Amino acid sequence: MFKLETAGLAKRYGETDALLPTDLQVRAGEFLTLLGPSGSGKTTLLMMIAGLVAPTGGQLFIDGKDATYAPPGQRGIGMVFQSYALFPHMTVHDNVAYGLRMRRTGSQDMARLVDNALDMVKMREYAHRYPKELSGGQQQRVALARCFAYSPSVILLDEPLGALDKKLREHMQLEIRRLHQELGATFIYVTHDQEEALTMSDRICLMNHARIEQIGTPVELYDEPATRFAAGFIGQSNLLAGALEQAGSFRAGQHLIPVPAEQGAAAPEGAVSLLVRPEAVELTAPEQGLLQGEISEVVFLGNEVRVLVALPEGAGHTETFIARCGRERQPRVGDRVGLRWELARSRVLHC
Ligand SMILES: Nc1ncnc2c1ncn2[C@@H]1O[C@H](COP(=O)(O)OP(=O)(O)O)[C@@H](O)[C@H]1O
Ligand SMILES: [Mg+2]
Repeated sequence: MFKLETAGLAKRYGETDALLPTDLQVRAGEFLTLLGPSGSGKTTLLMMIAGLVAPTGGQLFIDGKDATYAPPGQRGIGMVFQSYALFPHMTVHDNVAYGLRMRRTGSQDMARLVDNALDMVKMREYAHRYPKELSGGQQQRVALARCFAYSPSVILLDEPLGALDKKLREHMQLEIRRLHQELGATFIYVTHDQEEALTMSDRICLMNHARIEQIGTPVELYDEPATRFAAGFIGQSNLLAGALEQAGSFRAGQHLIPVPAEQGAAAPEGAVSLLVRPEAVELTAPEQGLLQGEISEVVFLGNEVRVLVALPEGAGHTETFIARCGRERQPRVGDRVGLRWELARSRVLHC
């Protein structure tokens, strides 16, 4: 049984599908991230799980029970937003106690639960301050504590780090991972930041145009993207446009490129793409390459060098190819080079 499950859950606003009928299963204790561009339906899905937006179709099950129309307070769900939504006229302590009071916690338990929650986010010494006396990161910690205090078994977080600067965001990512492990609760985390999703998640649910594009572990999404969109959204990718010709080969313009046999064989007619990640591409002498081109840019990144290779026009594919190489090679702009990769590290995409 899943902790949480949607069956055809959907939301329309007039003629707009905010979420097409969606089936999603979330396991108890997992850290699941909803990742996708702005407007892809992430918040809508989260709000329906929380009970703050009413679905226009489908069902939601929590612990196997139909909770589609259960009142928000009876779902055992806590929520943290990007805007911390702290009460400005209440101290940190009272902000955290507020959620507990709403749930009619006895005053004896109250003090202990508030202290525990503040300890968890390392904010106990700030208990008597007001939100305006705290930094953005500290306010977000308080918002987390307010949610954790009443021990919800599911915690929903909607771009909670969106307002923080990069350094603090990276620190808070690790903090939230730690808290997830400590609490053992099920986390559903929304972000449009692919790096954040890769670092934090047990599984990523990639969303696009009001539906789930692909769902899997970070490694699965990176290594085995199912579509061009998934390949482009997560990590850097080189995508060649072309068609499968005979068993095991891909035609892009005048080039015939071998592809993994099992991917080339089952192919229907029509246009396909070939994905090769930059780190799989090796620079060679021109005649040894599967493709040839001219280096148009060399970017030094400290631990590696990123090389952009311009491909000849009319080859029927993207004009530049990204490769990475070690520092010993010393590639120069204008060099003619070949591009090679192990077959197993390329991937045919059908949509
Ligand atoms: N209250 C609303 N009224 C009308 N359209 C809405 C409303 N809320 C969301 N939408 C639309 O639904 C789509 C998905 O929105 P949302 O779930 O907020 O996306 P995300 O969180 O992925 O950015 C968008 O096209 C958005 O404009
Ligand atoms: Mg949103």
